[in-house]
Parts: sequence; structure tokens; C-alpha cells
Amino acid sequence: MFQSQQNMCLPIVYLNGKTMPFEDAKISPLDRGFIFGDGVYEVIPYYQGRGLRAREHLVRLQQSMDELYMTNPYSIAEWEAIIHDLIKQNGGGNVAVYIQVTRGVAKREFAPPQGLTPTVFLMANLLPTPKPEIYANGISAVSIDDNRWLRCQIKSTALLGAVLLKHESLLEGADEAVLFREGYLTESTASNIAIVKNGVILCVPTDNLLLAGITYVLMMELAKKAGMPLEVRRVLRREVKSADEIWILSSTKEVVPIVKLDGKPVGHGAKAGLPGEKFKQMLQLFQDYKRDLPAVQAALAAS
Ligand SMILES: Cc1ncc(COP(=O)(O)O)c(C=O)c1O
Repeated sequence: MFQSQQNMCLPIVYLNGKTMPFEDAKISPLDRGFIFGDGVYEVIPYYQGRGLRAREHLVRLQQSMDELYMTNPYSIAEWEAIIHDLIKQNGGGNVAVYIQVTRGVAKREFAPPQGLTPTVFLMANLLPTPKPEIYANGISAVSIDDNRWLRCQIKSTALLGAVLLKHESLLEGADEAVLFREGYLTESTASNIAIVKNGVILCVPTDNLLLAGITYVLMMELAKKAGMPLEVRRVLRREVKSADEIWILSSTKEVVPIVKLDGKPVGHGAKAGLPGEKFKQMLQLFQDYKRDLPAVQAALAAS
């Protein structure tokens, strides 16, 4: 399998009803996605054609479009057929499928015109699963005030707030940002956050201040099934600062431990600054879950 120009994505992409080489995919500069960030997106992991919670991602895509008063051009079954075809044309393997739907092309004015044809773009990337050393050593993060907009439940392509926060965390020499709004934990720039305190996994309730991550929900289900104590409630900044463990979760990262926060090791005693025991248990639960992913879906089997 080779990658397209400058390794930007796998060679075949989907644009507005057709698959084509990446180099042939052309979009108007008047596309409202380009002009206003007026669009939504999803990133769905596929393992050998098997989607990890693909339906849930497609349902969230619908919810994001509903929030933007956009009409979804495809049914879930149609999306699945497009995705499976794209994966097949790129030679299969473990890939992250990126879907972007924008409101379409129009004269530049704020009011969204009625009846535009949405622009639909899909590409696939090799799944950037974290390297073993990330799981073994963890990552670092800094606390930053969450100054994004108040509609973070929408998976919108307008991501400048998150881009700047990520940039600021890198400028501070950390790998990621742990975000707080009015003293309470929200999430990270492109992942959710859970902490472990006194043996209990603490998860933040999902509202307009953060994205309801598919991985976050899956983690809660896995924890409950395995009998790991878990609580969903608001989490104070000082609770994060004194947490035994901090995890970030997303579809491409799954679960990764933050071992250093604001320059200080996370956790206590001899184990401070090391990935925790609950993290290791959760990582194993994810690996077991992935091994048992439902069989390849009909669209793929039939192709
Ligand atoms: C802001 C934000 N929060 C959380 C997540 C994690 O969501 P998911 O688990 O569905 O990938 C993402 C993923 O991109 C994100 O951008």
C-alpha cells in the first residue's frame, strides 16, 4: 500500500459521489467549509474492514448535522457502503476513515442558503495507533482554561479553538492540554478525559461543553462490565491535580495515560509518574474488545 502526495492520506478518496485518486479531488474555494468552517466531520477506526462502533459515529454525524440545520445526504446503510468501498479500494488494513460534510458551495454570505448540495469528502489514513512506548511511558499535559465556544457537543470542522489550545500546550513543552472551564474539567483538545481517584474512575457528564466521545462511552461500558467502580459527575481542577491516574480517550488513541501534569508526576508514592494499574486494566479491556469486533458487515461481505 502506498500513500499519496506527501503522505497526506491513502491514495483513493471519495468526493461527491465518486472515488478518485487524491490528486483529482478538487473543491471550490467558495465551499462554505473552506470559507466559514461550516461543516461537520467524523473519524472512524476500521480494523480489517470491521468498524469500531461505526454506527455510533454515523449517528453522531447525523446529530452534528441536525445541530447545523443540515440535511444528511445519506442513510446509515449508504454511508457504510461508501466507507467499505473506500477501504477496499485502498487495499484494506487498519485505517481511520475521515468523513467531512460541508453545507456546500455558495456566494459568501453568512446566512446559509436553502437547498445547497452538501460537499461530501472521505479519505482514509493508516490508523495512527499509539506506539508501545506511549502506553509504557505515558504522555505529558498542561492545564489550560477552555476558551472554546459553547457548542462543543457538535463535531464541527470549525476547530480553531482546539488548534490554538493544542499549539499552546506544545509551546509549553507538553504533549496535550487538560482543559478546565470555571474550575471544572471538560476534556482535551481532541480527546475526552477520565481520572482515577481512590480506585474510582471519574467521568465528566457530557453536555454542550464537550464532545460525547464514542470511546468515552465505550470505556464506561467496558468498566461497568468488568466491575470497575465508575462515577459520572463534574470533576474539580484540584481533583485532577491530585488524581491517582489521568487518561485521555479517543477513537485513534483509544486510552493513553497522562503521567505528568503541569510538570509534576501524576499519582502518588513509588508509582507516581508511571501508567497506573487501572489504565493497564482498561487498555487490556480495549484490546479484548477489538479482538471480538462484530464480523465484517454485510456491505463488505457482499462486495
Ligand atoms: C474535542 C474532542 N473530544 C473528544 C473526542 C473523542 O471522541 P471519539 O472517542 O468519538 O473519537 C474527540 C475526537 O476527535 C474530540 O475532537
